Amino acid sequence: MTSKSLNIVLGVGGGIAAYKVASLVRLLKESGNDVRVVPTPSALKFVGTATWEALSGNPVVSQVWDNVAEVPHVSIGKNADLVIVAPATADLMSRAAHGAANDLLTNVLLTATCPIVYAPAMHTEMWQNPATQKNVSTLRAHGNVVLEPAVGRLTGSDSGPGRMLEPEEIVAAALALVSAQIRDLVGRQIVITAGGTRENLDPVRFIGNRSSGKQGIALALAARDRGADVTLICANVTAQIPSGIKTVFVESGAELKNAVDAIASQSDVVVMTAAVADFAPAHVSDTKIKKADDGSAPTIELVRTPDILASLVAERKPGQFIVGFAAETGDSQASVLEHGRAKLARKGCDALVVNDVTGNHAFGSDDNEVTILLKDDAREVHIPRASKSDIAHALWDLVAPALS
Ligand code: C5P
Repeated sequence: MTSKSLNIVLGVGGGIAAYKVASLVRLLKESGNDVRVVPTPSALKFVGTATWEALSGNPVVSQVWDNVAEVPHVSIGKNADLVIVAPATADLMSRAAHGAANDLLTNVLLTATCPIVYAPAMHTEMWQNPATQKNVSTLRAHGNVVLEPAVGRLTGSDSGPGRMLEPEEIVAAALALVSAQIRDLVGRQIVITAGGTRENLDPVRFIGNRSSGKQGIALALAARDRGADVTLICANVTAQIPSGIKTVFVESGAELKNAVDAIASQSDVVVMTAAVADFAPAHVSDTKIKKADDGSAPTIELVRTPDILASLVAERKPGQFIVGFAAETGDSQASVLEHGRAKLARKGCDALVVNDVTGNHAFGSDDNEVTILLKDDAREVHIPRASKSDIAHALWDLVAPALS
């Protein structure tokens, strides 16, 4: 969660998921924010004014004709640091996409200059209708964030895409958006590894992996923006490496281990984003391995590499926070998250960012979908598909408070 108190406007649309949004108010308030609820008139048919006022501790109006002296249709939007719209109904998004101003919430959406996040909730047919999809594209083109709804049980017996994300997921995604302005890592020494190691077979060939280094770079940038002193250890990073960050270049897992070991003891946080080879050739040939005349292929003997993350955990200094990453696929034994929980326990790190790589969507992409598992917290913080920068901020939102 963010540490700076924010003025958050919670716009509530007229959908049954409004009842779940009551707990969203509580989550936002618990993390120290001021929450002003602006329901649409139809939202009040599901959850009434008294509930919103009691939960938020602020007055609640839904029409521009209420409380006119306060000029709420301008003041509420202009004073907001963040607007969250949940549930975002098809009608509400349609009106917002077209600039309608026919209730207080749509006026607020027109006057707000801060980030606006929509959490849609509706039946699958309504969500998939081209008119809704066009409105979603319009809102995104206007710079708003429209979260993808979850797939699951809807109001009736039917299920499919259109279910509102859980309040915890909405809060994590929304706060990640504004956290770029938050400087909660000032004075922190942070080491981040990025990219993928290469284990040489001979002077020409190596065993490598697909990691581009984009997530590690996004983490480094986000930490720098939040005030940290960052060292980025880059293993064969193919993405553009930003300026203004101390960078160390390595190739193999052994080099990466040396680089991490040299600096880990002075660091408050170590994030092992790099994809480190689990196996390396037992022997590296000094000369290029030749093709045999008889057409046979050589057998390459592999050995296990040391687990850098596990040794960091074993040698950690008091208070140091260690984060691992895990690219996982589910199988007949366990789901992706079950494998993730087991890995978190095995590695002993404080947090594990689990990435479902079934279908190979994450590598080299600008966005991703992850779940953050924490050692001392049973929560599973799911970040729906978001930019690697947003994922980075969501991770720092969890790590920063754990440091103090
Ligand atoms: O066990 P697995 O390779 O899936 O674990 C991934 C995590 O462990 C990543 O954080 C990666 O950086 C780290 N790792 C490591 N040393 C290795 C292999 C992986 O530190 N030899």
